[in-house]
Amino acid sequence: MTIQPLHSSMLIFTTVREIRLWLDRHAGGRVVGFVPTMGALHEGHLSLIEASKRECGLTVCSIFVNPAQFNDPRDLALYPRTYEADLALLADSSTDLLFFPSVEEIYPHDFVSVEADLGGLDQVMEGLHRPGHFDGVVRVVHRLLDIIRPHKLFMGQKDFQQFTIIGRMIEQLKMPVRLVVCPIAREPGGLAMSSRNRRLSKPVRDQANLIFQILQYGKSKRPVLSPGQTMDACLEKLRQAGFDPEYFEIVDPETLQKIKQWPESGRLCVACTAVWLEGVRLIDNEFY
Ligand code: PAF
Repeated sequence: MTIQPLHSSMLIFTTVREIRLWLDRHAGGRVVGFVPTMGALHEGHLSLIEASKRECGLTVCSIFVNPAQFNDPRDLALYPRTYEADLALLADSSTDLLFFPSVEEIYPHDFVSVEADLGGLDQVMEGLHRPGHFDGVVRVVHRLLDIIRPHKLFMGQKDFQQFTIIGRMIEQLKMPVRLVVCPIAREPGGLAMSSRNRRLSKPVRDQANLIFQILQYGKSKRPVLSPGQTMDACLEKLRQAGFDPEYFEIVDPETLQKIKQWPESGRLCVACTAVWLEGVRLIDNEFY
């Protein structure tokens, strides 16, 4: 079904057949940029759309809350769904096409999942704590790329492990798309923007800003402390600040393996963390 929202030239498609038909007929020679999302849109998503609009002639956004990537059914149930507000934001952002499919449309009964060798990238950090999560992410992003066939895929640096794994999948399967990673959008206090932030109560929002401050604290300890000591010190600071941390790791940005020594000058490593606050799981990262 194609729907035209009021006061906007954005086209909305809910079926694979119709969006494919439209793209085949009307994309012409334009560079197609694609921003996949699960909705509950915020400034971070809008910065991806802006990047796509700067670099591409046609920008497609998708909203699909992908059940396959939720290892916890409660998390799936609580995931914010704000379709009307999302629609207004997308229309204002001059997104050209929105793809808003059903679960059956993405995973038809004869759907065959892609196999990609992720080289162990999915076995650390998020992968350890959310078993099956990246299988679901790879499955849906591959499927969406197969449908939209964009020239450029825009993803955020906040999900560091996610974009690293998607980059690996693209390389492995030799998919004809370029991954563009955009910087983390932050609230004025430093909290990385996330759809999950809206589940935090007002009083703990300030507390949540401490995640970014603790990432900065860790950075300031290079090279006085070793990477291992820095990780321990940051975990301790997170606990003292009232978080329940799942991990704080300083890793090589390509292999995602924990580093034992600081890399030579000029080479970066990245600190990644996941913490719980008020029953909400928050992730963030920072290059060191
Ligand atoms: O980052 C997200 O919002 C999701 O993991 C993605 C990439 C849209 C796949 O469902």
